[in-house]
Amino acid sequence: MTTPPDPQPSLPPHRKVRVDLGPRAYDVLIGRGMLNLVGEFMNQRGMKRTAVLIFDQNTGPLYKPPIWSGLYSADWDFLTIDSGEQSKSLKDAAKLLSDLANKRLSRSGTVIAVGGGVIGDLAGFVAATYLRGINFVQVPTTLLAMVDSSVGGKTGVNLPEGKNLVGAFHQPKLVVADLDTLKTLPPREFSAGMAEVIKYGAIKDKALFDRVAKGVKPDDADLDEIVEKCVAIKARIVEKDEFETKGERALLNFGHTIGHAIEKATGYTTYLHGEAISLGMRAAAWLSVWQAGLPESDARRIESALTASCLPVTLKPGIDCAAILSALGNDKKVAADGRNRWVLLKKLGEATSGWELSGDVVEKAVDLLTKPI
Ligand code: GLY
Repeated sequence: MTTPPDPQPSLPPHRKVRVDLGPRAYDVLIGRGMLNLVGEFMNQRGMKRTAVLIFDQNTGPLYKPPIWSGLYSADWDFLTIDSGEQSKSLKDAAKLLSDLANKRLSRSGTVIAVGGGVIGDLAGFVAATYLRGINFVQVPTTLLAMVDSSVGGKTGVNLPEGKNLVGAFHQPKLVVADLDTLKTLPPREFSAGMAEVIKYGAIKDKALFDRVAKGVKPDDADLDEIVEKCVAIKARIVEKDEFETKGERALLNFGHTIGHAIEKATGYTTYLHGEAISLGMRAAAWLSVWQAGLPESDARRIESALTASCLPVTLKPGIDCAAILSALGNDKKVAADGRNRWVLLKKLGEATSGWELSGDVVEKAVDLLTKPI
């Protein structure tokens, strides 16, 4: 039994982005010192107190104590999964589903994911399918999860045949992003998240791009504003195209077509997702110059922004361009006719989707990644 906390704790200043999806609307709260208030934020939103928190071996020891200290009753339990992408499997999902059934979590209960994209995607898939769908709360603890995977309702697991091939759209009821968790994030992981931050600036917000191109650190005073801007961009896109059927949500895939192919061609072990997206954005920036009229100077600014965030812009030696080109044929986001549709920039802050490109020009862009900037 935990000690009941102050029934009306004072809330630290924080930013709020509303994702307005009608009956599935929710808030993304962004601030510092927020973990012991997760229970309070849920309570304010009428979520029943019965909940199961899902951690991994890294996030459990770090974040269970502060979250636990702010919970109201003993109707909370927790589960721990192995950290790493290999946990995003049907086997792990089945294990968690059985665990929830054994704990007799009811339809009014909540699953709370505490961690990065792997936990969010896996726990979200479990929340989407357990009893045909129960409440889900995201507590992202990586920059990438804060600005991307915790928002928008994509949940899922991998198959041996490919990543994210099984899943469901299941929006969270609440997202609590505590920026203090980023202070203990390995610098490489923070940089990987910066790839998505730079992407938001490139596709929708030139002023944001100008700011983040200089580099961002976990303790920067304006990090809350930066994360808020990224989340707001994603929220406005998801509001227009929740199920990725209208083209708008596809804008979020800038740099992802080649990025996903690089991940696949390298067996998902060489690069973090954000690092592969960095390489993909460099290629997409030059494709934008060659095909969509992006000024060369802007492509160079994208390269500099990626470098300023310690992200890779050149493939490691030994990576086979032919394998990347072959993996491009298998991207999950290919259209019904089997052809890739590309997201290109007309200028910094303005992206368009649906481009069809010739094999030659794509090959030239992949080849560029073997050359230094
Ligand atoms: N990460 C891309 C999306 O949520 O659509």
